[in-house]
Amino acid sequence: MIAIGSDHGGFELKEHLKKHLEGAGVEVKDYGVFNEESVDYPDRAEPVCRAVQSGEAERGILLCGTGIGISIAANKFDGIRAALCSDVYSALMAKQHNNANILCLGGRVTGRELAFMIADTWLNAEFLGGRHAERIGKIHDIEKNQ
Ligand code: RB5
Repeated sequence: MIAIGSDHGGFELKEHLKKHLEGAGVEVKDYGVFNEESVDYPDRAEPVCRAVQSGEAERGILLCGTGIGISIAANKFDGIRAALCSDVYSALMAKQHNNANILCLGGRVTGRELAFMIADTWLNAEFLGGRHAERIGKIHDIEKNQ
Protein backbone atom coordinates (compact mmCIF):
# COMPACT_ATOMS: atom_id res chain seq x y z
CA MET A 1 0.00 0.00 0.00
CA ILE A 2 1.16 3.52 -0.81
CA ALA A 3 0.27 6.23 1.72
CA ILE A 4 -0.48 9.62 0.20
CA GLY A 5 -1.04 12.98 1.85
CA SER A 6 -0.84 16.70 1.26
CA ASP A 7 -1.52 20.14 2.61
CA HIS A 8 -3.89 22.52 0.80
CA GLY A 9 -1.13 23.53 -1.66
CA GLY A 10 -0.76 19.93 -2.82
CA PHE A 11 -4.40 18.91 -2.58
CA GLU A 12 -5.38 19.26 -6.22
CA LEU A 13 -2.35 17.36 -7.54
CA LYS A 14 -2.83 14.70 -4.84
CA GLU A 15 -6.35 14.06 -6.07
CA HIS A 16 -5.21 13.63 -9.67
CA LEU A 17 -2.22 11.50 -8.71
CA LYS A 18 -4.35 9.27 -6.51
CA LYS A 19 -6.73 8.58 -9.41
CA HIS A 20 -3.79 7.97 -11.75
CA LEU A 21 -2.17 5.46 -9.40
CA GLU A 22 -5.41 3.68 -8.61
CA GLY A 23 -6.10 3.47 -12.33
CA ALA A 24 -2.75 1.72 -12.71
CA GLY A 25 -3.72 -0.82 -10.03
CA VAL A 26 -1.71 0.67 -7.16
CA GLU A 27 -3.32 0.40 -3.72
CA VAL A 28 -3.38 3.92 -2.26
CA LYS A 29 -4.48 5.06 1.20
CA ASP A 30 -5.27 8.75 1.43
CA TYR A 31 -4.30 10.45 4.70
CA GLY A 32 -5.80 13.78 3.63
CA VAL A 33 -6.31 16.64 3.32
CA PHE A 34 -9.70 16.38 1.69
CA ASN A 35 -10.27 20.02 0.75
CA GLU A 36 -8.33 23.24 0.12
CA GLU A 37 -8.75 24.75 3.56
CA SER A 38 -5.43 26.10 4.83
CA VAL A 39 -3.49 23.69 7.09
CA ASP A 40 0.10 23.33 8.32
CA TYR A 41 2.27 21.00 6.24
CA PRO A 42 4.18 19.44 9.21
CA ASP A 43 0.84 18.17 10.54
CA ARG A 44 0.11 16.59 7.17
CA ALA A 45 3.54 14.95 6.89
CA GLU A 46 3.17 13.07 10.17
CA PRO A 47 0.44 10.47 9.42
CA VAL A 48 2.10 9.41 6.17
CA CYS A 49 5.54 9.20 7.84
CA ARG A 50 4.09 7.14 10.70
CA ALA A 51 2.44 4.75 8.23
CA VAL A 52 5.80 4.22 6.51
CA GLN A 53 7.70 3.92 9.80
CA SER A 54 5.29 1.27 11.10
CA GLY A 55 5.38 -0.72 7.87
CA GLU A 56 1.64 -0.21 7.30
CA ALA A 57 2.63 1.48 4.04
CA GLU A 58 5.47 0.30 1.81
CA ARG A 59 6.15 3.88 0.73
CA GLY A 60 4.57 7.32 0.91
CA ILE A 61 3.91 10.29 -1.32
CA LEU A 62 3.62 13.79 0.18
CA LEU A 63 2.69 17.02 -1.55
CA CYS A 64 2.63 20.68 -0.57
CA GLY A 65 2.79 23.83 -2.69
CA THR A 66 6.48 23.51 -3.51
CA GLY A 67 7.16 20.14 -1.91
CA ILE A 68 9.87 21.84 0.14
CA GLY A 69 8.18 22.28 3.52
CA ILE A 70 6.66 18.83 3.60
CA SER A 71 9.96 17.18 2.60
CA ILE A 72 11.84 19.07 5.32
CA ALA A 73 9.24 17.95 7.86
CA ALA A 74 9.20 14.33 6.64
CA ASN A 75 12.98 14.04 6.89
CA LYS A 76 12.77 14.77 10.64
CA PHE A 77 11.10 11.39 11.23
CA ASP A 78 13.49 8.54 12.05
CA GLY A 79 14.04 6.21 9.13
CA ILE A 80 12.31 8.46 6.63
CA ARG A 81 14.21 9.33 3.48
CA ALA A 82 12.01 11.83 1.69
CA ALA A 83 13.06 13.00 -1.78
CA LEU A 84 11.61 16.12 -3.38
CA CYS A 85 11.60 15.45 -7.13
CA SER A 86 10.68 17.67 -10.04
CA ASP A 87 12.25 15.56 -12.80
CA VAL A 88 12.17 11.93 -13.85
CA TYR A 89 15.94 11.28 -13.56
CA SER A 90 15.95 12.40 -9.93
CA ALA A 91 12.91 10.21 -9.25
CA LEU A 92 14.81 7.18 -10.60
CA MET A 93 17.93 8.01 -8.57
CA ALA A 94 15.83 8.71 -5.47
CA LYS A 95 14.99 5.00 -5.41
CA GLN A 96 18.06 3.43 -7.04
CA HIS A 97 20.66 5.35 -5.02
CA ASN A 98 18.87 6.88 -2.03
CA ASN A 99 16.20 4.25 -1.41
CA ALA A 100 13.80 7.11 -0.71
CA ASN A 101 10.75 5.77 1.09
CA ILE A 102 8.78 8.99 0.57
CA LEU A 103 8.43 10.94 -2.66
CA CYS A 104 7.61 14.64 -2.33
CA LEU A 105 6.04 16.73 -5.07
CA GLY A 106 5.13 20.40 -5.41
CA GLY A 107 1.52 20.85 -6.39
CA ARG A 108 2.08 24.45 -7.47
CA VAL A 109 5.24 23.84 -9.47
CA THR A 110 5.03 20.42 -11.12
CA GLY A 111 2.58 19.76 -13.92
CA ARG A 112 0.14 16.90 -13.65
CA GLU A 113 1.51 14.66 -16.40
CA LEU A 114 5.10 15.19 -15.26
CA ALA A 115 4.09 14.36 -11.70
CA PHE A 116 2.53 11.11 -12.94
CA MET A 117 5.77 10.18 -14.74
CA ILE A 118 7.85 11.05 -11.67
CA ALA A 119 5.66 8.93 -9.39
CA ASP A 120 5.53 5.98 -11.83
CA THR A 121 9.31 6.06 -12.26
CA TRP A 122 9.96 6.13 -8.53
CA LEU A 123 7.41 3.40 -7.79
CA ASN A 124 8.79 1.07 -10.46
CA ALA A 125 12.47 1.58 -9.62
CA GLU A 126 14.54 -0.78 -7.45
CA PHE A 127 17.19 0.12 -4.87
CA LEU A 128 20.65 -0.86 -6.11
CA GLY A 129 22.15 -1.54 -2.66
CA GLY A 130 25.93 -2.02 -2.35
CA ARG A 131 27.83 1.23 -1.85
CA HIS A 132 24.51 3.09 -1.79
CA ALA A 133 23.38 1.03 1.21
CA GLU A 134 26.61 1.93 3.02
CA ARG A 135 25.96 5.62 2.38
CA ILE A 136 22.42 5.34 3.68
CA GLY A 137 23.85 3.63 6.75
CA LYS A 138 25.91 6.76 7.34
CA ILE A 139 22.76 8.88 7.19
CA HIS A 140 21.20 6.68 9.84
CA ASP A 141 24.35 6.97 11.97
CA ILE A 142 23.86 10.76 11.89
CA GLU A 143 20.23 10.28 12.90
CA LYS A 144 21.21 8.07 15.88
CA ASN A 145 23.93 10.47 17.07
CA GLN A 146 21.74 13.57 17.46
C1 RB5 B 1 1.33 26.84 1.83
O1 RB5 B 1 0.94 28.11 1.43
C2 RB5 B 1 2.75 26.57 1.36
O2 RB5 B 1 3.66 27.32 2.10
C3 RB5 B 1 3.06 25.09 1.48
O3 RB5 B 1 2.16 24.37 0.70
C4 RB5 B 1 4.42 24.65 1.00
O4 RB5 B 1 4.70 25.12 -0.28
C5 RB5 B 1 5.54 24.87 1.94
O5 RB5 B 1 6.70 24.52 1.69
